[in-house]
Amino acid sequence: MMKKLVSMSLKSSSDGLEVLDQTELPQREVWIKVGHPDEMISIIKQLKVRGAPLIGVAAALSLAHYALEEKDASRVRNLAHALREARPTAVNLMNAMDRMLARVDAGTDALVQEAETIFIEDVELCEKMAGFGAELVPSGGAVLTHCNTGGLATVGVGTALGCLAKAWSLGKRFSVWVDETRPLLQGGRLTTWELGQLGIPYQLICDNMAAMLMAKGKVNAIMVGSDRIALNGDFANKIGTYSLAVNAFYHRIPFYVVAPQTTVDMKCETGGDIPIEERNPEEVRGAGGAFGKVTWAPETCEVFNPAFDVTPAELVTAWVLDRGIFKHGDIAKGALRVGG
Ligand code: MRU
Repeated sequence: MMKKLVSMSLKSSSDGLEVLDQTELPQREVWIKVGHPDEMISIIKQLKVRGAPLIGVAAALSLAHYALEEKDASRVRNLAHALREARPTAVNLMNAMDRMLARVDAGTDALVQEAETIFIEDVELCEKMAGFGAELVPSGGAVLTHCNTGGLATVGVGTALGCLAKAWSLGKRFSVWVDETRPLLQGGRLTTWELGQLGIPYQLICDNMAAMLMAKGKVNAIMVGSDRIALNGDFANKIGTYSLAVNAFYHRIPFYVVAPQTTVDMKCETGGDIPIEERNPEEVRGAGGAFGKVTWAPETCEVFNPAFDVTPAELVTAWVLDRGIFKHGDIAKGALRVGG
């Protein structure tokens, strides 16, 4: 028996596992029934399921569903390793799969329980971050955000976007600048969709408009999520985050990173240790999705396509974690050492 677990983009129960195909949004809402974990690997690689916490939860549930049918522990273990490697930067995926791997020998029930716990914990972690981060959202101003960090990227209310949603629900009034987030347009396609559902006013901008808005005094704070935080506070997030942080520092705008403990990598001392995913050149030569496909660059042109960049801790005003709001001094004292 599996618990019935439902989020904005994931449904799991004894009837099976379904995920919302995020590459089809916002034009179409298409749910995919996921069978074998190999399907989940391909779904994660294609960013149909994306966002650091969500891929960890989705991979864990996919393995749990597989374990209900497959009793051979070595097969389950091999697939856990394969799922763990579906994407290289978001450490939430590795952290979730390491928890699952530690339960393989305990059997199917233990795996199912662990995956369900990972889901339930993510909801709780999001709630906690949202509560702390909402305090930092300015009243009456505008917050800029990058990529998608909401209910689509987690199974809870989200990380950075969760803070904005919470602040709004508490009566704070503000607007949001949404970076479109080239090349895969998570801001333009997904954050706009979520903010529309939440009823929070926003304006979509191209990524290269952010600095000009900061110079004009039209950005009061920046809130982003993270795919991996090193112990010195450096963090990886969607490509373009680093330039936002540099610009925020120059313009003296508070820059906050919001992430749960599942995003902290206890094995990474600094951002230099974080592996950065490089993706298909086609994503930069043009764009594709439910809106159609277009290629504007020569089809064979050379491309560099890193999916993430690393922002040094010195550019961060504060880290909003599920355990509270932390400043540079706290980070230096080891605040990111979870359980330490
Ligand atoms: O490539 P994506 O869309 O999975 O990248 C997602 C991000 O960069 C988010 O900002 C990050 O996962 C943190 S928020 C949940």
